[in-house]
Amino acid sequence: VLVGAGLLSELPALLPRHCPAARYAIIADSHVAEQYGTAVRDAIARLSPATLHTFAAGESNKTRETWHMLTDQVLAAGTGRDGAVIALGGGVTGDLAGFVAATCHRGIAYVQVPTTLLAMIDSSIGGKTGVDTPAGKNLVGAFHQPRLVVADVQTLATLPPTQLVAGMAEALKHGAIADGEYFEMLTANAGRVLDQDADTLAAVVTRSVEIKARVVAEDEREITGRRAVLNFGHTVGHAIETVAGYRMLHGEAIAVGMRVEADLGVRMGVTDTASARRLVDGLKRYGLPTTVPAALPADRLVEAMRFDKKSRAGIVRASLIRRLGEAEPGKGHAWTVPVDESAMKDAIEAAR
Ligand SMILES: NC(=O)c1ccc[n+]([C@@H]2O[C@H](COP(=O)([O-])OP(=O)(O)OC[C@H]3O[C@@H](n4cnc5c(N)ncnc54)[C@H](O)[C@@H]3O)[C@@H](O)[C@H]2O)c1
Ligand SMILES: [Zn+2]
Repeated sequence: VLVGAGLLSELPALLPRHCPAARYAIIADSHVAEQYGTAVRDAIARLSPATLHTFAAGESNKTRETWHMLTDQVLAAGTGRDGAVIALGGGVTGDLAGFVAATCHRGIAYVQVPTTLLAMIDSSIGGKTGVDTPAGKNLVGAFHQPRLVVADVQTLATLPPTQLVAGMAEALKHGAIADGEYFEMLTANAGRVLDQDADTLAAVVTRSVEIKARVVAEDEREITGRRAVLNFGHTVGHAIETVAGYRMLHGEAIAVGMRVEADLGVRMGVTDTASARRLVDGLKRYGLPTTVPAALPADRLVEAMRFDKKSRAGIVRASLIRRLGEAEPGKGHAWTVPVDESAMKDAIEAAR
């Protein structure tokens, strides 16, 4: 995983070293293709055959239909077993292009070139690829690790500010579950991050990647449960996304989710009170939301949580923190704990 400012222009030199291939199929959504796609393709094409394949931007296109179209295009371009896919864009592109690479010729090499903060610190790391189906998000997919990840923080300059802020929710989560000092650094440096100071952004991406990669390395295929620590804030966050009909950005929903789950942890005697307070301060420094919208009733949210993948036998479970920098291991290191539903409803109401 390479992180830095200006790495995009080094991609043609990095590819032969880290992911040599007979040809490269670059996949980008319509926004990123316009912004960076043609330049990247032309630069790579000077050294190796390269084609650019695009799809309409947006989560609603992370589907089997788009995968169908892209696999046809990538194969028609002559991409063989010795070819490679390059995922250039945000998490939607990374998940889709990774799934194209996982399935063409039963799995060919691919490179992640994340261009959103969320993709740099979260979706490009860990090897989960896939698409959404009418039954839910990410339900059809495969584990397939990229050969190389190239995160050029300069590409964040063109990202809408709300997307940058939403990505910071996951960075704050990394601090909350694994590194209290990192959390404090993020809180103290919100101004620099929001002003897009390149060194600060590179430091944030680097530390978040280290944390996520370490957790994934301990539980790559989500078998031991360790990977569940990454779900802090996500039991409530996913419920908010579902009940709000995905009108909120994922990072915004997760920010509210972390606030509610920290308070829930305090009520359940798991989370330290001062940490729950400092967590809210950190979220606010970035202008992230910390209140549950009035339009989302507590019972509808709890109902949605029962269908969450972390629930077992209808019992809602959440990944909580003990304090900033330390996740709650739970019984037998499950890294989730069964949730007291009335405490959950109280925590939701306290966050109105
Ligand atoms: N695989 C994983 O482990 C994992 C983890 C977390 C999230 N995800 C997935 O990631 C997806 C969300 O990713 P996202 O937030 O990056 O969304 P996204 O890919 O839709 O990107 C957000 C928007 O920003 C635009 N964009 C991207 N880079 C840009 C740039 N540099 N300049 C200007 N515009 C740019 C995109 O075109 C899009 O409109 C979800 O589908 C989620 O399921 C996957
Ligand atoms: Zn998330």
